[in-house]
Parts: sequence; C-alpha cells; structure tokens
Amino acid sequence: MLIAPSVLSADFGNLARDVRAICDAGCDFVHVDVMDGHFVPNLTIGPVVVSAIARAATKPLDIHLMVQNNTFFVDLFAPLKPEFITFHIEEEKHPHRLVQHIRSLGIKPGIVLNPHTPAEAVEYLLGDIDMVLVMSVNPGFGGQKFIPTVVEKIQRLKALRDRINPNCLIEIDGGVGSSNISILKEAGVDVCVAGSYVFGADDYKTAIDSLKV
Ligand code: DX5
Ligand code: ZN
Repeated sequence: MLIAPSVLSADFGNLARDVRAICDAGCDFVHVDVMDGHFVPNLTIGPVVVSAIARAATKPLDIHLMVQNNTFFVDLFAPLKPEFITFHIEEEKHPHRLVQHIRSLGIKPGIVLNPHTPAEAVEYLLGDIDMVLVMSVNPGFGGQKFIPTVVEKIQRLKALRDRINPNCLIEIDGGVGSSNISILKEAGVDVCVAGSYVFGADDYKTAIDSLKV
C-alpha cells in the first residue's frame, strides 16, 4: 500500500514543517486537495500555497482537483511538476481530451469518481490514465465517515483495471484509517489518502506505518 497523506488536515500555520514531517515519516506522495467553492462547498488553496507545499515536499505531489474549469487549474499547477493531477469526471465534458492535455504537460493523469459514479464510467479512459481515485466520502471536507459501498466499486474497478491497464493505480480517499485499510487492500486499492488519521496522530510515522498493509 502506498500512502498519500492529505495536507488538508495539516496545521496551516506550520504548513512547511508538517509537509516535511510526513515526508520524513515515510509517505509516498503528498496529497493536495484543491477546492474552488463551486464544485464542492469548500474553498482551499491556490498556486501560492501549493508552490510552498511543493518547495517543502521531498516526495512527489498528488494534486486532487475539486473544481469547475479543470483545464484552467491544470495549467495553473503544471509548472509545479506534480507526479499526478486527478480531476472529477462529473465536472468534465471532455475527460479524454483533458487526460491527453495533462499527459502532454509531462504529468500523470488520473480520474476521480464521486460516491455515486459507477466504476464503469472510466472503462474507456482506463487505457490512457495512471490513476483512478475513488472517493469514499463526498468531496469537500476532511474527517468524514467512510461510505462502505465503495468496497464493491473497487472490486469492480479492479477487474476492469486488471483487464485493460494493469499499470493504472487505484487510490481511495476519505475516512481511511487502520480500521478499514486491510479490507481496502484486499478489494484492490494501491494508494490510500489519509488526512485526519495521519495528522490527528501523535506520531506521523506510527500512523503511516499502520497503513502499510
Ligand atoms: C475530501 C478530500 C480528502 C480529505 C480526506 O474532499 O479529498 O483528501 O482530506 O480526509 P480524511 O482522511 O480525514 O477523510
Ligand atoms: Zn483528496
């Protein structure tokens, strides 16, 4: 299991310190939640703060867009050279075109599925993407309760992924901690995002290690 702590639950008064700490504690990616107050009912960070995160991070960035006008935000963050940019399929008229655009910028493209969106929505995109991010809460906030029906969705997605593009990673985001990580691993998850579980812990390394199943 690869671990991507969500900076949304970090102490924003000490953001660089917290980003360095999760990297030192052995995370694999730094998960950055960008919200615009339109696609989701919350507003987070733009390029000034994300570039501060990029400077502090010693692990690659995994940028999760929860916005309208995806292409505008992709172009805004591309100069920071993140490893992944993922966007919501529910908010994109031309997801295939945007996937090609992200790849043309030298960034790995990924698609995000809201809790109601079926695994099959990415079937004809799977061959062209490097990650599918499955939301296990409604996007917008950290610290929400895990929605258990996503386990079956991951099993269906894994079957599609294994057939079409075995290199594409399956990532889960929302309500993840040591109590549900094993069932998620078994269902087919490769990368877990964890915000409140990691940043709420006394020791980041112990928390991150407990997710490495
Ligand atoms: C929610 C964000 C998540 C969030 C996860 O919209 O995409 O990345 O920070 O937080 P936890 O792990 O606390 O559910
Ligand atoms: Zn996220």
